[in-house]
Amino acid sequence: MTAAQLFDLSGQVALVTGASSGLGARFAEVLAENGAAVVLVARRADRLGALKTRIDKSGGRAVAVEADVRDHAAMLRAFDAAERAFGAVTILVNNAGVAHSGRAIELSEEEWRRVLSTNLDAVFYWAQEAARRMLAAGKHGAIVNIASVLGLNVDKGVAAYATAKAGVIQLTKALALELAFKGIRVNAIAPGWIITDINRDYLTGDGAAMKRQIPMGRFGGDSDLDGPLLLLVSDAGRYMTGATIVADGGQLVALRV
Ligand SMILES: NC(=O)c1ccc[n+]([C@@H]2O[C@H](COP(=O)([O-])OP(=O)(O)OC[C@H]3O[C@@H](n4cnc5c(N)ncnc54)[C@H](OP(=O)(O)O)[C@@H]3O)[C@@H](O)[C@H]2O)c1
Repeated sequence: MTAAQLFDLSGQVALVTGASSGLGARFAEVLAENGAAVVLVARRADRLGALKTRIDKSGGRAVAVEADVRDHAAMLRAFDAAERAFGAVTILVNNAGVAHSGRAIELSEEEWRRVLSTNLDAVFYWAQEAARRMLAAGKHGAIVNIASVLGLNVDKGVAAYATAKAGVIQLTKALALELAFKGIRVNAIAPGWIITDINRDYLTGDGAAMKRQIPMGRFGGDSDLDGPLLLLVSDAGRYMTGATIVADGGQLVALRV
């Protein structure tokens, strides 16, 4: 088997949450370029529609489904729509997420719930539903949860985000353990700073100096995660489960004083 064949996703159906911008949009395009039919999920339907058009024009196959990942009924509708369009979902990229900043002592209950319900609760429910349907359809599959280096280490002002992402890493291991024997692999990617809508204003403004904390000397671009994603969803990663791939330019291993 050649390397290209190892990463070939022909016949796979990939559902990407948070596909309307940033990493999720890029993930969807990369999965489509490598042969998967893709299901684009987010709240901003106009952006999903534009991405679907782009993917269709470049020879891929996509459907767009407007859904809030915190809405259980909308989740079921998204999986149903995927099945109607392409058949059972075999790849789930649990990518939708929100950020916040503010000291823990000032964090409101509403903000805590907004971050935890989007970044952790929804990751569990979508993975659970994907796995249930893969098993019902007799399919093997791959689930990739998008965590963060802030799930492995922490900084000031991100208590809810860091707690949710640490939960995602632990959840990835728990699901991997229960699903391994059934042919469903569950892994995570923990990115460092990647410039997207979630942080562009900060990283190109007040936070620009943080580049100095990154051993590689630059923030990431969304294409820097193409390789980790393709490894985890394809046959190339067939003996991997429960893993978290850190892609951060060396940020996590650098000693900060
Ligand atoms: N960029 C980084 O430096 C970085 C680093 C580590 C981890 N991450 C993680 O990577 C993931 C993607 O982030 P990004 O950088 O690409 O940010 P982004 O450009 O802001 O994208 C976030 C995506 O999540 C979707 N989303 C948010 N809340 C949602 C909800 N309730 N229901 C459905 N979709 C929702 C948004 O779509 P709608 O608003 O249209 O719903 C959007 O498509 C997140 O989990 C983030 O925590 C990012």
